[in-house]
Amino acid sequence: MLKAFTMAAALTLAAWSAEAQPSTVSFDSATQVFRLDGGNVSYVFGVNPRGELQQLYWGGRLGATDSFPAAKPMPEWASFDDSYTNTPQEYPGWGAGLYVEPALKITFADGNRDLVLHYASHKATEHGFDVELKDIERPIYVTLHYAMDPETGVLARSATIENRDAEPVTIEQAAAASWALPAGKYTLNYLTGRWAGEWTLNQVPFEHGERVMESRRGSTGHQANPWFAIQAGAADEEHGEVWFGALGWSGSWRITVERDQLDAIRVTGGFNPFDFGYVLHPGQSLETPVFYGGYSAHGLGGASRVLHLYELKHILPRTEATRGAEMPRPRPVLYNSWEATEFNVSEAGQMALAEKAAALGVDRFVMDDGWFGQRKNDHAGLGDWYVNPQKFPHGLKPLIDKVHALGMDFGLWVEPEMVNPDSDLYRKHPDWVLRFPGRPETEQRNQLVLNLARPDVRAYVFGFLDKLLTENDIAFLKWDYNRNWSEPGWDQLPASEQKDVYVAFTRNLYSILAELRQKHPKVEIESCSGGGGRVDLGILRYVDEVWPSDNTDPFDRLTIQNGFTYAYTPQVMMDWVTDSPHWMNNRATSLQYRLLSSMQGSLGIGADITKWTPEETATAKRLIAAYKQVQPTIVQGELYRLISPLNGSEFSATETVRRDQGQAVVFAFIHSTQEGRGFPLLKLEGLNPKAEYTLSAIEGKAGPDTPATASGAWWMHHGLAMDASFKGDFQAAAFRLDRK
Ligand code: DGJ
Repeated sequence: MLKAFTMAAALTLAAWSAEAQPSTVSFDSATQVFRLDGGNVSYVFGVNPRGELQQLYWGGRLGATDSFPAAKPMPEWASFDDSYTNTPQEYPGWGAGLYVEPALKITFADGNRDLVLHYASHKATEHGFDVELKDIERPIYVTLHYAMDPETGVLARSATIENRDAEPVTIEQAAAASWALPAGKYTLNYLTGRWAGEWTLNQVPFEHGERVMESRRGSTGHQANPWFAIQAGAADEEHGEVWFGALGWSGSWRITVERDQLDAIRVTGGFNPFDFGYVLHPGQSLETPVFYGGYSAHGLGGASRVLHLYELKHILPRTEATRGAEMPRPRPVLYNSWEATEFNVSEAGQMALAEKAAALGVDRFVMDDGWFGQRKNDHAGLGDWYVNPQKFPHGLKPLIDKVHALGMDFGLWVEPEMVNPDSDLYRKHPDWVLRFPGRPETEQRNQLVLNLARPDVRAYVFGFLDKLLTENDIAFLKWDYNRNWSEPGWDQLPASEQKDVYVAFTRNLYSILAELRQKHPKVEIESCSGGGGRVDLGILRYVDEVWPSDNTDPFDRLTIQNGFTYAYTPQVMMDWVTDSPHWMNNRATSLQYRLLSSMQGSLGIGADITKWTPEETATAKRLIAAYKQVQPTIVQGELYRLISPLNGSEFSATETVRRDQGQAVVFAFIHSTQEGRGFPLLKLEGLNPKAEYTLSAIEGKAGPDTPATASGAWWMHHGLAMDASFKGDFQAAAFRLDRK
């Protein structure tokens, strides 16, 4: 039984969904145990007799009357692993013999580097607690923030570190949170990649030692994404326990996953400590990013469905039109000019593309790179955000007016944080870039990174974007970022404080995005970084969609999109249909296959549509119209991965079910059939077994004995059979099921 509460009573919050149990947060003052319940999850921690905040439980929802005894530190393991290092703390300071990953490491002005954090106080907040810790001797305070989503049980954790001492301190390592799981058999899932090859799902058994997922690049990076999932024992796609987490930070980040000396699991994530050194002057504080953690008893599929719902409801921003709405609106079907024209944009050329796009049923026309400054290729122009007078002699207005007259809205590409040395901006302000004076400035794609941490650079970037949006009727910005940092110096500041750039740059990026959205509440934004180099729950608070990869090959996209959706909702996953044969693999595919591959997320067209035949135009028009009818189900429904495209699979299939179980959409793809093998029966998921569903083909054909209408139970247990003609190389089919 929960005993006396320090709060008048446990705070009981109404759950959002009818079936969910009410969510509660409670503190038992007798045992000093904190408990948060939301969705199907409970999270419990307590103050142990030494005063440390100790993790006690993270997993499936416990009974309302279940109680926890006071936290008991783990015993020592001989003299080499003492109780302090063996005890899973919520936020361990580096000191007192801690050998596992610390959450916080500080150097004090007098050279002391010992930090031991003990519970000081707490207060209840709307969906959780703020728990204050303090060093055992010095006035360094850390407030841990906990907020549990009542519906999904996703727990948002972060920390505020405050220096109330008389001298400055340097923070060398600051995590948002540490998570812990008891000893057991687990598999670790994480996402890695490279340019045009993002979102590879790695699945590895937990070994002893530490695995590091990180970016030292100044931004999120293609090479690893700040997400993890841990599967218990035999858990798989749809069964068993999975714990997951995602870090909301678009600067250098790190997540470490350890199996410690006693076989227990610790996950620690936040700012990347590499080259980190944030100076906290007396009275100053540092907020860490937010680390979101969740749990599902329904495998990796269940975990991603929980995360998708949380992203849709609580992470993604709203525009003026969707303010207060439960979900953001499905993305307009867009056209983007990049693969058709590259830098060679012109008024007439863009107008011709716009006419074709409108005829296909596209809602938004986006002009990509090449429209500004002296931009003919990637050697010049970045930083000079005036309309190129040769390409657009009358400014952007005639093109924008034309796009509007065709019934579409207008979007524009920008790359605000970059400068080419061959630009007026760099000639005027060579000191505005990240640099160490006197050292070479390493160019990548012939460009340098503006130091957005500088107030003058921030003002310039906000100023030109605000002007662009004020003077032109622009509905959408594609915000690109085509290199990582080198020479990350901030030479305006004293040497001891220059490393603050790792925090200040990203904070200014967020504040510009927030201010732009506030001033231009209709504008929507896409985060792109040469593809999927800046996708995380930090940037997703400020942008409506992301560009997952520059690789638009429709077959490669099946695995790219598969990996992407483990961490991010299909709502934000922009997928273009481009030309065939594709530049990446020189692979030829049918337009139907390309369209169906892209229809698994938010659909875009990126081909040279002026060259499409009347038949191709008609096919695209038909499938775009069919897509729009079911788009909310695809991008905001519950995603089931029926057949994984990984490990060279001959086949793959996905299904999304509308949240009221009223509709489902199924996609099926063949890589290359072998030995005449037919497509496997697709046993659907997530339908109401008692409801009747009518099947219709969006593309392709079901087997001859397939009923036109059958119960959810029939589709889930008997399954959907494809027609025997569905075979060959790079084939695709799609179906919808509508509840009668
Ligand atoms: C990289 C992006 O990912 C592409 O889509 C395109 O916008 C180019 N940059 C333009 O330079």
